[in-house]
Amino acid sequence: MRAKLDQIKADALAQIQNADGLEKLNEVRVNVLGKKGALTAVLKSMKDVAPEDRPKVGQMVNETRAEIEAVLEDAISKMERAKRELQMKTEVIDVTLPAKKHTKGHRHPNTIAMEEVERIFIGMGYEVVEGPEIETDYYNFEALNIPADHPAKDEQDTFYISGDILLRTQTSGTQVHVMEQGKLPIRMIAPGRVFRSDEVDATHSPSFHQIEGLVIDKHITFADLKGTLAEFAKELFGEETKVKFRPHHFNFTEPSAEMDVSCFKCGGKGCRFCKGSGWIEILGCGMVHPNVLRMSNIDPEKYSGFAFGMGLERIALLKYEIDDMRLLYENDIRFLKQF
Ligand code: DAH
Repeated sequence: MRAKLDQIKADALAQIQNADGLEKLNEVRVNVLGKKGALTAVLKSMKDVAPEDRPKVGQMVNETRAEIEAVLEDAISKMERAKRELQMKTEVIDVTLPAKKHTKGHRHPNTIAMEEVERIFIGMGYEVVEGPEIETDYYNFEALNIPADHPAKDEQDTFYISGDILLRTQTSGTQVHVMEQGKLPIRMIAPGRVFRSDEVDATHSPSFHQIEGLVIDKHITFADLKGTLAEFAKELFGEETKVKFRPHHFNFTEPSAEMDVSCFKCGGKGCRFCKGSGWIEILGCGMVHPNVLRMSNIDPEKYSGFAFGMGLERIALLKYEIDDMRLLYENDIRFLKQF
């Protein structure tokens, strides 16, 4: 019996020694001391021991159990301590570190420029409206007097979703949505994102923003267009800003023009900024074509109007003297913070 108990003890101590984790130690406890463990089996076999030897054997079993238990407990507490120490080392919290600052975002130069343009036109009694970024061919082209086979469409080779549905190439389609509602007079601007399959470079991006403008009322003339846009240019670029209109072609306006502003950097003398010309091109405009009015159920004999469209990025680049459009899309906070 003595030999058997010594064997059990030697086995148990070896297992404890070799245990590489708390789970292994627990296994040892179950295998040796548990209900079905080796020591318990010995106790169960007491009935085979002569009655006069039983107290002695019992005592030997208990001693062995106590010895194994003591070693086991010691091993468990050592292992737990080691585990805790490792945890303390790896999960240090340095309470003296400064707190994390909540970094505030910054308004994008596009947004700042857009709000500035909106502010100016709202001040002149305009309403700000939004149109859909996904358009049908009708709103993007047809209703703007650009029929299916017109070369003006080629210039705006664009992203089609299906045969007739596309990402809008211009905000001009919003004019049609507003005219269709049939409420006159109209005085609106429509800022928004537009899409063209352009390569990315310093002045192009496949997605950019435009601001559209439309005024329709009785007796609106080119003089109204000139006066309004001249006033707008002064508000945006400064009181001394002069404007100049160059004849141009847009299908949806007749006559059409492009408007230049005198260079706000050199005052018109000519500099690097305006490439020596003294003028900077800023927007397209014109008197709304009678076909466009008619298609939206407005009688061109009774009503007339003017429209204009400008690139928002272009305004932002000019106003903040940014020389590469790509900077506007990188969202580098060091860049954005400057405006
Ligand atoms: N949609 C034109 C473009 O993308 C800009 C434009 C020009 C809009 C003249 C107008 C306008 O409303 O009258 O180039």
